[in-house]
Amino acid sequence: MTRMTRRNMMTEDEIIIECQKYVTSLLSKESTGHDIEHCRRVMNTAFEIQKVEGGDKFKIALISLLHDVDDYKLFPMNKNNENARYFLNTISIDADPIVNEINMISFKGNETVSPLTLEGKIVQDADRIDALGAIGVARAFAYGGKHNRKMYDESVKPNINQDFETYKNSDSTTINHFYEKLLLLENMMNTEKGKEIAHKRTEYMKAFLKEFLDEWNSLD
Ligand code: ADP
Ligand code: NI
Repeated sequence: MTRMTRRNMMTEDEIIIECQKYVTSLLSKESTGHDIEHCRRVMNTAFEIQKVEGGDKFKIALISLLHDVDDYKLFPMNKNNENARYFLNTISIDADPIVNEINMISFKGNETVSPLTLEGKIVQDADRIDALGAIGVARAFAYGGKHNRKMYDESVKPNINQDFETYKNSDSTTINHFYEKLLLLENMMNTEKGKEIAHKRTEYMKAFLKEFLDEWNSLD
């Protein structure tokens, strides 16, 4: 990525570095898995997928790094991607094509929306992949802890077909989150490469769940 952008004479690599600094400053107080490290992992996984599937790396990097900077949970006042637009405007990049992709990436409830472009599809896969595997397990329990959720309660059953409002307000257990969302992601991948990575990580999570429930039930 060494193309020069015409207006401000920063290279694309320099813009990506600036973007990471910007995202770090916005998400520095976030401890439930939406930090700059999440955004960097999404970008790197998206690059892995791009190697096989193609797509514009610069666009992938911007969508990855900016995909959570206006998340409704972190910035409830933002209704029009204010944070993403601010950065893109400062570097004279047309914001609409990037924010349109960002808005279609998030998985909400049981809605399945596919981003329009290959780059958006790749970042959506990478974002979902970051909720899987060992990191996915860690993020789920970090989120559950912060939101005072129980790890597990046999009497609270998973509710798989939730609409967005129910999903947002649910106080289900963290183990239920695996059945309500995480185990479903593998079948929602857009790309073959994404599917391959997601499958491996889902197998790991299934083994984790089995071990967790075996240990839990052996205590009775
Ligand atoms: P993203 O915006 O990165 O697509 P989310 O905002 O849906 O993802 O979730 C961020 C992280 O928090 C994910 O790893 C997800 O599994 C976890 N998480 C979200 N909701 C819950 C929940 N109800 N219980 C446990 N973990 C959750
Ligand atoms: Ni994300």
